[in-house]
Amino acid sequence: MPGKSPFRIEPPARATINIAVIGASGNVGSRVLGLIAAEHSGVGLRLVAVANSRAALIAREGLAPAQACARLLAAAPEAGFAAALLHLPRPLIVVDCTASAQIAAHYPRWLAAGIDVVTPNKFGPSADRPLARAIAAAQATSGALLRDSTTVGAQLPLLQTLRDLHAAGDRVERFEAVLSGTLSYVLGSVQQGEALSAVVREAFALGYTEPHPASDLSGEDAARKLVILLRALGHDIEFGDVERVPLVDAELLDEPDPARAIERLQAIDETWRARVAIAQARHERWIYRASFDGARARVAPERVACAHSLANLAPCENALILHSAYYHVAPLRIAGPGAGIDLTAAGVFADLLAAAWHYAWRADSAAVEEFTVEEFAADEIEAAA
Ligand SMILES: NC(=O)c1ccc[n+]([C@@H]2O[C@H](COP(=O)([O-])OP(=O)(O)OC[C@H]3O[C@@H](n4cnc5c(N)ncnc54)[C@H](OP(=O)(O)O)[C@@H]3O)[C@@H](O)[C@H]2O)c1
Repeated sequence: MPGKSPFRIEPPARATINIAVIGASGNVGSRVLGLIAAEHSGVGLRLVAVANSRAALIAREGLAPAQACARLLAAAPEAGFAAALLHLPRPLIVVDCTASAQIAAHYPRWLAAGIDVVTPNKFGPSADRPLARAIAAAQATSGALLRDSTTVGAQLPLLQTLRDLHAAGDRVERFEAVLSGTLSYVLGSVQQGEALSAVVREAFALGYTEPHPASDLSGEDAARKLVILLRALGHDIEFGDVERVPLVDAELLDEPDPARAIERLQAIDETWRARVAIAQARHERWIYRASFDGARARVAPERVACAHSLANLAPCENALILHSAYYHVAPLRIAGPGAGIDLTAAGVFADLLAAAWHYAWRADSAAVEEFTVEEFAADEIEAAA
């Protein structure tokens, strides 16, 4: 456990920030609860609600984060949970750790009611235009924010970097990227001789895949991430605009049970062994590439030369190589592990703390307003003397 930094800034003591975690029993959600339990920056987080797809628990007086998941598993279904959140005290931050489009559809209502949303769920930020516009309008009306930095690259500094470049007037000419940590892991292991079905089973067990691995193998997950990246760069694009070539054909993935869907992949183990052999004979490697050429957005399994910078990523790595007006001498390269439960939960928690601190300081703003610049300068001089 790292010691306290001697340089840390203490937040104002009197703010209490209410938190609701949806998807609290999942890989990421339960890890986020653990981080809330261990929180030691001093900002006053109070867990007031938890939910999964089967049950919900609301306690205005607060729930112990370490026990919340166990209590949720014993709780009853709560119809109208999404609407009940609107009546909880503010400031309130909803942490959506599901992969549910249904939950993302509630964002406009929550945001318009002044509730911040923190999420690794791609369905809100990559939603089709009507929902995406409603989310943007709700934020503009209330000032509450959707914080989604983990939707692409988990904890990597990707989305905010692109948003900052766009805000500063940069113009993107083209980029190529590996955005699916899961497919990076799967293709990397298949090219080391493992069977595709066995690797997907392993990735699923490790929590690297989406709740249903079809979302990864169909390219949907990568295409949604590409939409989120392009929107961060100011492009008006939606999921249907992305040209998408799946890693595994749709008919094979058409099975609601993840374990059975993975079993069916054995049918293409040999095909992938043959593809890998051909690529190796040509000194090439398979990657699942996301690209934008200034007009066309595409995700597809592609062979690249072994010397290509995207060809030698470690399992689970994401990478982006971006050419823009500001990066014309050499492209901007961002790379590193872009999936995994710990990294995603850490990024979600960082977004949650950023939102909480924002409210903690805002709650103290009355005191700040009364504290004039002259008083500040006098205090500082006195302290320094
Ligand atoms: N795992 C990673 O490496 C990773 C990386 C980047 C981003 N993410 C994102 O993080 C999110 C969570 O992933 P995960 O791996 O933690 O998934 P998970 O283990 O399958 O957990 C999903 C959670 O959401 C709950 N849930 C699903 N539908 C719901 C609904 N309609 N209402 C309320 N709760 C619902 C589930 O409840 P039940 O248990 O009752 O079904 C479960 O608690 C996803 O959006 C994923 O894309 C994950």
